Amino acid sequence: MGPLIRSLSMLLLALSLLGMSFTGSAQNPGNWSSARALDAILQDYAYRAFVRPRVRTGVPYDGTAPSNLTGIKIAAMRLVRGSLKSRGVSRYKEFEIPKGVGERPYVKRLVLVYQNLGNWSEVYYPLSGFTYLAPVLALLAYNATNLSATNLPELNIMAMRDPIMVDFSSMSQAPSGSTPKCVWFNLQGSVNFSNVSTGNKCSTTQQGHFSVVFESVKGKGKSKKVWIIVGSVVGGLLLLILLAILGLCSKKQREKRKISRMEREADAGEALSMTSIRDARTPVALGTRTQPMLEHNYVP
Ligand SMILES: *[C@@H]1O[C@H](CO)[C@@H](O)[C@H](O)[C@H]1NC(C)=O
Ligand SMILES: *[C@@H]1O[C@H](CO)[C@@H](O)[C@H](O)[C@H]1NC(C)=O
Ligand SMILES: *[C@@H]1O[C@H](CO)[C@@H](O)[C@H](O)[C@H]1NC(C)=O
Ligand SMILES: *[C@@H]1O[C@H](CO)[C@@H](O)[C@H](O)[C@H]1NC(C)=O
Ligand SMILES: *[C@@H]1O[C@H](CO)[C@@H](O)[C@H](O)[C@H]1NC(C)=O
Ligand SMILES: *[C@@H]1O[C@H](CO)[C@@H](O)[C@H](O)[C@H]1NC(C)=O
Ligand SMILES: *[C@@H]1O[C@H](CO)[C@@H](O)[C@H](O)[C@H]1NC(C)=O
Repeated sequence: MGPLIRSLSMLLLALSLLGMSFTGSAQNPGNWSSARALDAILQDYAYRAFVRPRVRTGVPYDGTAPSNLTGIKIAAMRLVRGSLKSRGVSRYKEFEIPKGVGERPYVKRLVLVYQNLGNWSEVYYPLSGFTYLAPVLALLAYNATNLSATNLPELNIMAMRDPIMVDFSSMSQAPSGSTPKCVWFNLQGSVNFSNVSTGNKCSTTQQGHFSVVFESVKGKGKSKKVWIIVGSVVGGLLLLILLAILGLCSKKQREKRKISRMEREADAGEALSMTSIRDARTPVALGTRTQPMLEHNYVP
């Protein structure tokens, strides 16, 4: 019975690991590296909007996305250090940036790149089980010291007092019975959902990509998971039954062998040499290979 209990506990462990991996992978966006590569391309193209004799600060400059990404809108706004903290930006496209936003590390000037991914939203930010009610919008902060620089890392910006608001008032209506949710993709690849504030706004303390979604296939993804788990449990039970049958069989076999050994030992009392000859000739002791050897040793 010992090995049976051991396999049962192994099975339970495997099942719980399986369950955990299913709940953990529920919020994984599609291809994170291609989304990050898009950010780098759009930073480059947004900075090209600054090709002017004099770049004013606090003014949005609309850029043009590369032709293979038609449908994406970009803009860039240059700010001097400290103006985010002391003044904020009352309106930058859909974003409302209050005062009290800090950036790190220290830069003399920074650029806020705006993205509206339009019909590319689902391509770069697929969310299975959800439908977008608005395009994915982004606000990302970069070093503005060199306006020709590419592949810049994002700076960290953090709203210390009031949150940054994203205005989705022109989004589509969610079908009745479903509740719209704000979704936020941070730059590390994790997804967070939150409630939509009054006036169809989403709030955030950090930069990233934002949109509004509703759960489109309610429970469908979950029921698939449930079926997988039910399937594994049933499969596990079948395996257990099989193991039990095997265990019973081997127990019977052992008993059989024990009986035949007892018979042999009984025979050995009167006809020791006969037993050894019979064992050597016939494959009676197939399962107990060591037995004949031992007896041979005793014979001489
Ligand atoms: C993810 O995107 C990168 C860059 O666009 C590409 O090279 C890679 O093949 C993609 N991976 C998957 C699994 O789609
Ligand atoms: C679009 O073009 C840019 C620049 O020409 C290139 O770097 C990028 O890989 C292309 N993106 C796609 C999705 O084809
Ligand atoms: C988005 O729309 C533009 C035209 O406005 C089109 O050229 C582009 O292929 C579309 N993108 C996707 C992913 O469908
Ligand atoms: C910003 O860019 C300038 C020029 O490229 C560089 O000297 C400086 O170290 C950068 N600052 C940060 C915080 O990356
Ligand atoms: C700005 O960046 C470009 C592209 O990386 C580089 O060629 C140029 O030398 C840089 N300029 C300064 C002043 O660092
Ligand atoms: C994201 O969501 C998780 C779970 O809902 C929560 O624990 C975490 O604090 C959230 N992260 C942020 C930055 O809000
Ligand atoms: C979001 O809304 C739901 C229902 O409207 C409510 O139960 C929940 O507490 C809200 N969550 C937060 C974080 O406000």
